[in-house]
Amino acid sequence: MIIAIDGTLASGKGTIARRLSRWYGLAHMDTGRLYRATGVAALNKGVNFENPAALAEVALSLDLNDYDEDQLRTAEAGQAASKVAAVPAVRAALLELQRAFANQPKGAVLDGRDIGTVVCPDADVKLWVDASVEARATRRWKELSEKGETLSLDEMIAQLKERDERDRNRSDAPMVAAADSVLIDTTHLTIDAAVDKARAAVDAVIAQKAERSGP
Ligand code: DC
Repeated sequence: MIIAIDGTLASGKGTIARRLSRWYGLAHMDTGRLYRATGVAALNKGVNFENPAALAEVALSLDLNDYDEDQLRTAEAGQAASKVAAVPAVRAALLELQRAFANQPKGAVLDGRDIGTVVCPDADVKLWVDASVEARATRRWKELSEKGETLSLDEMIAQLKERDERDRNRSDAPMVAAADSVLIDTTHLTIDAAVDKARAAVDAVIAQKAERSGP
């Protein structure tokens, strides 16, 4: 069973993905980490962000063990991730890795921006998780403030809009809900309520499959 979870930044998709992976006993890949690590590695190596071949090289030689969560979660890492994610050669370099992960025997949960549309277009369940810009910015701002980043909420809203814009308008694999995805709007939902909705969508597919395969 492959569960594809896409959605906007700080919509809650990562938390939903982790909780579904635990509940259904499936491996989980946060594909945003691949782009964040590529962005951070490119910054550390002083790679020119206008050089697609050099960025793709960074993506291909990525070792995720080199990066801890704190390094990858900064606002700077997020900006760098969004820039490298717009480069088709980088996306191509990271595609097989994601597909191989999804195609492990038991299946997997993957979350990102293009899982249901590009990485796993045949996923069993596709979820699209979204929330208002204000709700998402407030969540991310609190998270970053707790880590000591000194960014104002207005700056966070501006950054988030800029990143949404870049993710939505890039030519290769733009961020868009798959036509057959189930929408979960988390603006007014607690995380438990959002996870319940996600589980209901997955359980409906499991029930359909059981019905199809007969008694
Ligand atoms: O989900 P996140 O904030 O960790 O993602 C970081 C960036 O990577 C974000 O700007 C979008 C991009 N991304 C992408 O283009 N495709 C994915 N499958 C996952 C993330």
